[in-house]
Amino acid sequence: MNGAPYVPVDGGPWHLSMGLHRLDPDRWLEVDAHRAHELRRKASLLEVARDVVVATHPGSERASTELLDLVVAYLVTHHAELLEVDGHRVHELATGAVLDRRTGHPVVIASMLVQEDLCVLERDDETWRLTAACVCFPSRWSLAQKLGQTLGEIHGPVPGFQDALAGPAGTFFDRLTTDRPVWRANWTLLDTDEPHLPTASGRVARWTSGEVGSSLWFRVERQTLRRLPESGAIVFSIRTYVRPLADVVDTTPGFAAALRATMRTVSPDVAAYKGWVGLLEPLDAWLDERS
Ligand code: HEM
Repeated sequence: MNGAPYVPVDGGPWHLSMGLHRLDPDRWLEVDAHRAHELRRKASLLEVARDVVVATHPGSERASTELLDLVVAYLVTHHAELLEVDGHRVHELATGAVLDRRTGHPVVIASMLVQEDLCVLERDDETWRLTAACVCFPSRWSLAQKLGQTLGEIHGPVPGFQDALAGPAGTFFDRLTTDRPVWRANWTLLDTDEPHLPTASGRVARWTSGEVGSSLWFRVERQTLRRLPESGAIVFSIRTYVRPLADVVDTTPGFAAALRATMRTVSPDVAAYKGWVGLLEPLDAWLDERS
């Protein structure tokens, strides 16, 4: 969980935005040196906390099988050295796992092949809902609670989402075409580098000025959205990168000043949602020294 190549902080005021960019389909999923470690962590979470990291509705197998086929085809095309495919059997070479595509829910098999977490959303008569997901690295939210929910409900705890983004996000989902996938980046500051944070508890961290910089982690999610051609479902992938905040500050010119400017505009409800109450002042002083 390291080496985040994304630093999506520009110093502008804090605001919720769709922030979608066109995605080159050849760059759908990212592979790096942490692959074996992260896949092993996923496998272990699937063993000891399956109900926490997997949630599926009956009937979601068709779209998830389409996703699995797409994941395997992507890896074979772009990273052929990572796996051997023999009919239904996929031999994942980094971990040595031999997966049978017909055994288990396909969203889980797909997730065991990539560093990303994977979510499938399908449209019913009314709206888009989360119907299948394998999320090993949630950033303080519970997958079980989100299964079957609409975009608005999923984002219920996010201050301002319902008013500002629920409508545009739904419209965007309706209009997303198979040939134009997109990506967006989401960042946050946390008091831990643990990637598996499956509950909202612990959001209220205790901060002291002396340790604030060295105790914080900069967490970026690279998220992609693409529509599947056969089922019409939408796949939401989440790739999580975590770095020490001090490391990002030291290696990214202008970052400390930009982060300080943005953090100064964070509203009390966002600070409460993020667990940043009590952090803003000491962080401001720490960033000021490094700007
Ligand atoms: C256009 C699409 C989307 C946009 C613009 C969007 C945007 C956001 C934003 C701004 C946040 C707040 C993050 C933070 O402050 O750290 C968030 C949180 C979240 N998003 Fe999305 N999102 C999108 C799609 C999705 C989808 C498809 C899922 C499906 C699982 C999802 C699941 C979540 C969850 C679980 C949270 C945390 C909510 C909580 O705290 O309980 N998002 N999203």
